[in-house]
Amino acid sequence: MENIGIIPSTPGKLKPDKYQPYIHRLRLSKLTLWSSMFLAFILLFFFFSPPAAPLPAAATPRRDSWGGPDWEKRVSKSARKSSSSGITVLVTGAAGFVGCHVSLALKRRGDGVLGLDNFNRYYDVNLKRARQKLLARAGVFIVEGDINDSALLRKLFDVAPFTHVMHLAAQAGVRYAMQNPGSYVHSNIAGFVNLLQVCKSANPQPAIVYASSSSVYGLNSKVPFSEKDRTDQPASLYAATKKAGEGIAHAYNHIYGLSITGLRFFTVYGPWGRPDMAYFSFTKDMLKGKQITVFEGSDGGSVARDFTYIDDVVKGCLGALDTAKKSTGSGGKKKGSAQYRIYNLGNTSPVPVSELVDILEKLLKVKAKRKVMVMPRNGDVMFTHANISRAHRDLNYMPTTDLEAGLRKFVKWYLDFYSVSKNKSA
Ligand SMILES: *[C@@H]1O[C@H](CO)[C@@H](O)[C@H](O)[C@H]1NC(C)=O
Ligand SMILES: *[C@@H]1O[C@H](CO)[C@@H](O)[C@H](O)[C@H]1NC(C)=O
Repeated sequence: MENIGIIPSTPGKLKPDKYQPYIHRLRLSKLTLWSSMFLAFILLFFFFSPPAAPLPAAATPRRDSWGGPDWEKRVSKSARKSSSSGITVLVTGAAGFVGCHVSLALKRRGDGVLGLDNFNRYYDVNLKRARQKLLARAGVFIVEGDINDSALLRKLFDVAPFTHVMHLAAQAGVRYAMQNPGSYVHSNIAGFVNLLQVCKSANPQPAIVYASSSSVYGLNSKVPFSEKDRTDQPASLYAATKKAGEGIAHAYNHIYGLSITGLRFFTVYGPWGRPDMAYFSFTKDMLKGKQITVFEGSDGGSVARDFTYIDDVVKGCLGALDTAKKSTGSGGKKKGSAQYRIYNLGNTSPVPVSELVDILEKLLKVKAKRKVMVMPRNGDVMFTHANISRAHRDLNYMPTTDLEAGLRKFVKWYLDFYSVSKNKSA
């Protein structure tokens, strides 16, 4: 779920904003000789003092308290299904964009759903909290914790009889990896291995559906991207960790008989979406009258994405859960071979980013101040385009929302969500 390299790679929350007003004030004040000497002293102190402690990694979990009879009650209540034919699903990353929508869809049709999320600060935590409230109203409880916490995961499997795991927790974003590579290793590799360890030991083992990414196709130039195409040229650390995840999944399937399905998402967008993605930050900046940066290729070619609407992706996720066969292992031992699948979930119609901006201009009734720049080679690829025939055949997946219809729903949500919170604080 890469963004398109139009937004600053530093998520706003992690910027040391507090230094800005200080510098500003210094420029404005008329400094006397004494105060300039004082200032020089302060500056010297600044330069020679040891650097401040680094900001914690975005994925670093808070020390969450979990456990206790009340907590267990909430966990088992949330995981209880209301339909006799329902499944019981642990959704990791449930406070995230896709996780929130999938959890709601499962709960609505009568499945038992328990969420897990570490509420990291990679992007605005208030948005994650708002999604959490939405889920709470629907009867879905989100456990606050990290997928790399094996004691917590084992406890969850003790309390609730999960038949399926929908693994959507991940460190997302392409250029953020240059600032915080450890966060990708923590969530996308260590966390995934930990989750699979707990799943293979669970009795019975759940079937697992997990999020991979179209970014695994990397510099592949054959279009449309098919599942059989090469995926050995990742263009970012994010892509490399997602690709590693596919390999890790295969190994656990092979060794332990876990039923595993990987879904390669193609630029998923929609209401409750991720603020670090281009359509979202464009909307925000255009409404503020701020300039937006639209990338193009070094040859003037357009950057295009196979934008996929969230409701379509949710159907694909449910299709994958519903067609997943049971895992075959038990007690941590393989008994027979188990299902292993991988699918593209895209829209099959790439749209140039300039056209995305045209549509947003129309919907927001705002003229964008575009700054066209050559896309830097720091992780983003020129285009993505999914071949979805395999997902159509096996999951009955068929996207039905075009970009304009999907963006209309996003914009409606955006205006509503942000003006509602503005009114509240006023
Ligand atoms: C994940 O957890 C294990 C302990 O369960 C710890 O040793 C390891 O450092 C953690 N990995 C990361 C990348 O946080
Ligand atoms: C899409 O993938 C299927 C196999 O899943 C293949 O048969 C078909 O030729 C591909 N279509 C294109 C246009 O590449």
